[in-house]
Amino acid sequence: MTRAAIDTSLFEAAEAVRAKAYAPYSGFQVGAALLADDGRIYAGCNVENAAYPVGNCAEPSAIAAMLAGGGKRIERIYVTGPGVLPVTPCGGCRQRIREFAAPDTPVICHGVDGEPLYTTLGELLPHSFGPDHLVR
Ligand code: THU
Repeated sequence: MTRAAIDTSLFEAAEAVRAKAYAPYSGFQVGAALLADDGRIYAGCNVENAAYPVGNCAEPSAIAAMLAGGGKRIERIYVTGPGVLPVTPCGGCRQRIREFAAPDTPVICHGVDGEPLYTTLGELLPHSFGPDHLVR
């Protein structure tokens, strides 16, 4: 499959799951779809909560789906949300992605009324702390 075809599949998966996002408080529905090392696409949406701080973002939902499905590493991740601005992962999600991805892992951020931003985890989270730091 070409990279463009993969990105189309990731976009479609992110948009399909975004429609199911539970975001009654912000109204900001987010979808994340990732290509894992097992060649499969895993997706997740944000899940808000009446106790606002315990809501979670779309990215950890996609990561949980990956692990549950047998994937171990993120090869590429696509995030979609409303509006024109690229929906970039929040700071906490950058660190969550970091756990399962390399600095050169592509992260595509898309506000669906605008153009996608193609970046990498390393650009979003330079000089990051990760599992390697804990190897003794
Ligand atoms: N959100 C995500 O799902 N991912 C991000 O990286 C940015 C923010 C969600 C959290 C909350 O449910 C809504 O977007 C508004 O912040």
